[in-house]
Amino acid sequence: MMPSDIGPSHVFLVGAGPGDPDLLTVKALKAIETADVVVHDRLVSPEILSLCRPGVQLIDVGKAPNNHPFPQANINALLVSLAGRHERIVRLKGGDPYVFGRGSEEVAVLRDAGIAFTTIPGITAAQGIAASTGAPLTHRGLATGVRFVTGHCRAGHELELDWDGLADPDTTLIVYMGRGHADEISRQLMAKGLGGDMPVMLVENGTRANETRHFATLATLAQAARKTARGVPVLIVIGRVVDLADERAALLEVAQGKISNG
Ligand SMILES: C[S@@+](CC[C@H](N)C(=O)[O-])C[C@H]1O[C@@H](n2cnc3c(N)ncnc32)[C@H](O)[C@@H]1O
Repeated sequence: MMPSDIGPSHVFLVGAGPGDPDLLTVKALKAIETADVVVHDRLVSPEILSLCRPGVQLIDVGKAPNNHPFPQANINALLVSLAGRHERIVRLKGGDPYVFGRGSEEVAVLRDAGIAFTTIPGITAAQGIAASTGAPLTHRGLATGVRFVTGHCRAGHELELDWDGLADPDTTLIVYMGRGHADEISRQLMAKGLGGDMPVMLVENGTRANETRHFATLATLAQAARKTARGVPVLIVIGRVVDLADERAALLEVAQGKISNG
């Protein structure tokens, strides 16, 4: 249920999911359809924006990696100023607002300004991609856990990640925004003992009509990353669960003679 105490202004911090509009939650859809103004990120797909009422003001505050045309402080200020002028403001973010989405920073600003808000979760890219590719995040005997990390850091700097902890063959490692640091990720994990033959999958535009999958190993991760397009979202999945992805599972069954290849 939507909050019944919506005062003069209410901000809905909405997760739009990874792209496929059918992955929106019912609550997200209701908020989008009843918004007076929508402030959205680059990763929100046009199909989802088309669900807004005709004539609704759409404000694109999209940021490209290492290119921040709309600084976070300005987005925060924009939300506060819109709250003074509109009743239902939707802040629409790709995936889930609280997974590498800076949603909690925006919420802190709204709270400080005394503006009512509701957070509506979204399906994060890792979950959408697990479903679309068939590579689960966990699987008995292959992965007892999953870790989400960011592969993004300030330009010219090295990633500050717990490489010792991440080099765990029993855990699925999901790297958001890791395309530009694929070489470092592969090198560091192998240096900490993760095998170069560990299966890897890179997924561009996950859950969208143009989803593209690239299969590699930890040793060939950087090479595979170079085949992905710049400017499109890419998720890196590292772990034995990759062997369960639809195409891989079929290939392995052929290799193991489980199904005829002739
Ligand atoms: C700023 S983070 C936002 C993550 C988002 N809040 C979420 O929960 O999915 C952006 C990164 O998420 C990943 N991502 C988001 N949507 C994706 C998609 N449809 N396909 C592949 N990767 C995606 C990419 O690594 C992209 O660079």
